[in-house]
Amino acid sequence: MPASDPSASSPRLWSRKHILGLQDLSANELTMILDRAAEFKRFFSDGCTKLDHLKGVTVGNLFFEPSTRTKTSFGLAAKRLSAEIVDFTASSSSLTKGETFIDTARNIEAMGVTQMVVRHATSGVPHQLARHLNAGVINAGDGTHEHPTQGLLDIFTIRAHRGSLSGLTVALVGDILHSRVARSNIWGLKKLGAKVIVCGPATLIPVHIERLGVEVSHSLDDIVERTDVINLLRIQAERQRSAFFPSIYEYAHFFGMNGNRVRRARKNVLILAPGPINRGVELTSEVADGDQSVILDQVTNGLFVRMSCLSLMHEAATRPPTVNTVRSEEVIV
Ligand code: CP
Repeated sequence: MPASDPSASSPRLWSRKHILGLQDLSANELTMILDRAAEFKRFFSDGCTKLDHLKGVTVGNLFFEPSTRTKTSFGLAAKRLSAEIVDFTASSSSLTKGETFIDTARNIEAMGVTQMVVRHATSGVPHQLARHLNAGVINAGDGTHEHPTQGLLDIFTIRAHRGSLSGLTVALVGDILHSRVARSNIWGLKKLGAKVIVCGPATLIPVHIERLGVEVSHSLDDIVERTDVINLLRIQAERQRSAFFPSIYEYAHFFGMNGNRVRRARKNVLILAPGPINRGVELTSEVADGDQSVILDQVTNGLFVRMSCLSLMHEAATRPPTVNTVRSEEVIV
């Protein structure tokens, strides 16, 4: 193991078998994941191309919904840690013959998969699998509930550019109602000391969301000058069963980020978007490709965040029972 190997330098112990949402994690646990990801990033920037943390491990990539970034990123993260990876795509599987997703996952587990990365259109599916499998489960996005590794990579990217989350004002703009990314961002950002504003048409903001400790705004123009970070969330058309706004044109006019709004924003404002982006809707190409955009940094950082999650979970699963595992509330930072 190289001297600067991230797992060798961390004095803290991870105790969780599954990573299902940022609502469950303490600030200390979030920081552990971010710190390990930062170490991986440094390590790979220094020329490392592969580590052996997951040698002999097989990771299942179970995607019951389409994905470009998350699926590729988890696959690459597993490979960089020397794991085998099994890719599963629902549309070409025996699910089409009537098999349940639990039977499907149990059959894949029976082939020796010990970590399952799961995306599903229904909220709670990763939690159900965590109850039915021996494997560790990572939620790669469940319905409108959570997308924890996206929240983590968004937070990682902000921290990398600003040093700390504490005291920052982060705006989440768009389809908050259907966005699992919004929920993971809210839990994670609040725990790490950021102020969160959710902004969108009233029809796309959940009622009582202020109970999560966020400010609600229905005008991007009102908040654009007082935010450090603007995260532009996609209109989740696939989860919308009725019209939530009159037209895409009107949405873009009132809630889309364009060059004029960026010029009114703080000079060092960070523009994030989880992707996939709809150019001309949530943001214009001028903004997506502009100097304030860190959208591709997010994608790069996602790889290290996912390596961090996979390696920490594996350490918890394989730690000898004689070692006293520190409970999450007791982890010392
Ligand atoms: N951000 C995100 O989850 O992208 P994919 O749907 O492409 O994985």
